[in-house]
Amino acid sequence: MPVWWFLAAAALWPLLSATFNLPDTAGVRHTSAEVRRSKAAVFAFIATDCPISKAYAPELARLHAEYAPRGVAFLAVHSDPAVSAPEVRRHVREFGYPFPTLLDPKQTLARALGVKVTLEVAVVSPEGRLLYRGRVDDRYVDFGKTRPAAHRQDLRAALEQILAGKPVTEPETRALGCAIPFELTPRPAEVTFTRDIAPILFRNCAGCHRPGEVAPFPLLTYQDAARRASLITRVTASRYMPPWLPAAGYGHFQGERRLTEAEIQRIRRWAEAGAPEGNPRDLPPPPEFPQGWRMGKPDLVLRMPKPFAVSADGPDRYECFVVPMGLNADRYVQAAEFRAGDRTLVHHALFLLDRSGLARRRGEQYPCFGTPGFLPSGALGGWTPGSSPIHMPAGISIPVRRGTDLVFQIHYHPIGKPGLDQSELALYFTAQPPQKHVVDIALVSRAIDIPAGDASYKVRDHFTTPVDVEAIGIIPHAHYICKDMKGWAVLPDGRKVWLIWIRDWDFNWQDQYHYAAPIRFPAGTRFEMEFTYDNSTANVRNPNHPPKRVRWGPDSTDEMAGLHIQVVPVHNADLPELGQALWGKIMRSVGGGFYRRPEAYSDKRF
Ligand code: HEC
Repeated sequence: MPVWWFLAAAALWPLLSATFNLPDTAGVRHTSAEVRRSKAAVFAFIATDCPISKAYAPELARLHAEYAPRGVAFLAVHSDPAVSAPEVRRHVREFGYPFPTLLDPKQTLARALGVKVTLEVAVVSPEGRLLYRGRVDDRYVDFGKTRPAAHRQDLRAALEQILAGKPVTEPETRALGCAIPFELTPRPAEVTFTRDIAPILFRNCAGCHRPGEVAPFPLLTYQDAARRASLITRVTASRYMPPWLPAAGYGHFQGERRLTEAEIQRIRRWAEAGAPEGNPRDLPPPPEFPQGWRMGKPDLVLRMPKPFAVSADGPDRYECFVVPMGLNADRYVQAAEFRAGDRTLVHHALFLLDRSGLARRRGEQYPCFGTPGFLPSGALGGWTPGSSPIHMPAGISIPVRRGTDLVFQIHYHPIGKPGLDQSELALYFTAQPPQKHVVDIALVSRAIDIPAGDASYKVRDHFTTPVDVEAIGIIPHAHYICKDMKGWAVLPDGRKVWLIWIRDWDFNWQDQYHYAAPIRFPAGTRFEMEFTYDNSTANVRNPNHPPKRVRWGPDSTDEMAGLHIQVVPVHNADLPELGQALWGKIMRSVGGGFYRRPEAYSDKRF
């Protein structure tokens, strides 16, 4: 450890000891005497509204259980003057911290220990020397880039060395988290919140960042935004927020969530000027959001049979829930809206139809990561946070036969405290049988065998349409180590038309994309896909550490490759021909006889 470190820490200590007399959430006072009686003290800086801080609550409880009996004191510290003591008390109870939480609204401890973000920890010796400052482990590499499990346990390593009386070999690491809101001194600037920033946030963020929605805090008022100015600058510059995977200029989709370069720069300049508020008269009216079902009273609401319990941490869960639809006649679905029971837990959902009875034979609920365990007889679309209700284009309703079961396939992401979810789907029927038919051109491959360490493994597939079609949407699918997804069409005259390009695939933000306007492709168009996988250690999302050979399969450590182009034949009479061609493609890829020919390709039904 460099000598300057001791000197700097020693110089800090008098300040710390002089000011360290703080109440916890129960009103009990704590002082530096407590630290002097311990072998070392861990100060964990937490925040009630920070996802990374919350996610570490169970790990801090485990560390406490392990090290408190060995003489290590644990104290959480809350340093945000804008959050009231009762709110902190509620948070601490909900997330079950087994040690006291100090209220430090003046942020003296954070300043004295040089802590900048939540969650960040500082370990102090009984004499008050700073021995370690930084992250708990290396799970969070960047916003939106998280390892499935930590490779390095930095806090544990430091505590082991301290308890063994050895110097800490790495006394400082960089914690990734939410900036502690130290007071800002806004300077007069040409960029202000009311005139320049509020319109950006209202249009691009408030849909998710408002009370009762999926995001961890609201971004509606000046206070909401100013105290997070640096964090907002960072997540918008990296384009982690707003979440949207397709690259600009490679297909135009409905509901694109993307800031312009100018908007990103405006946010940065505003934060650099200390987040000035500006003239209140410039503030646009706050956005309005509809309450309740957005399309009025549904014809049918289908709900998960029972609440599903999600634990405080551990791996993400993928569950299927089977709900009998109870239809005594065939119906046509025109629209559907999903409502997550607990929006903080549900990461995404798919709505599948099963007429085979296979799903219900597996029970009301069963784990299902990659495939639902049956060949769906249809699908009603999907949901990701912030997505709009599903509305089929005019003339394209989705037929649902009587006796069909709905299967919710839901991805849950633990958030640091246990929770319960019971989600539901509202359906709107139409008397109109479909005039046109949506066909899934599935560019897929099972020929996936990725050597350990291969950072650029490619999977390709193609299909040439024998009839004129219009593409209305596209659904990409792969698991964790896929990096890059490209889809394009080569027209008979040789021109190339992009369908989609995702440069940094993130399984957590998978979506179903609808084109802003249908794209017409003449017979003879060749659809192509190329997915690239990174099975090296450099890929932080790699579920295997060290990397292992990865093959096709439904599990989270297997891979898949699917680019589903949703097309409508321009002439209804062409449907059987397209169906035959696609069926031939499936047969070639699976070697024949594996699945029953889906009835969906016959034009005689409905
Ligand atoms: C589609 C919904 C959605 C939209 C739109 C959205 N966010 Fe978020 N945001 C989220 C969710 C969900 C999280 C929590 C991620 C997590 O739990 O890791 C989040 C987290 C954040 C964070 C905290 C980073 C972290 O993980 O700790 C910031 C800052 C943020 N968003 C800013 C913005 C800004 C600024 C915008 C608009 C420019 C925006 N968001 C738009 C859903 C959204």
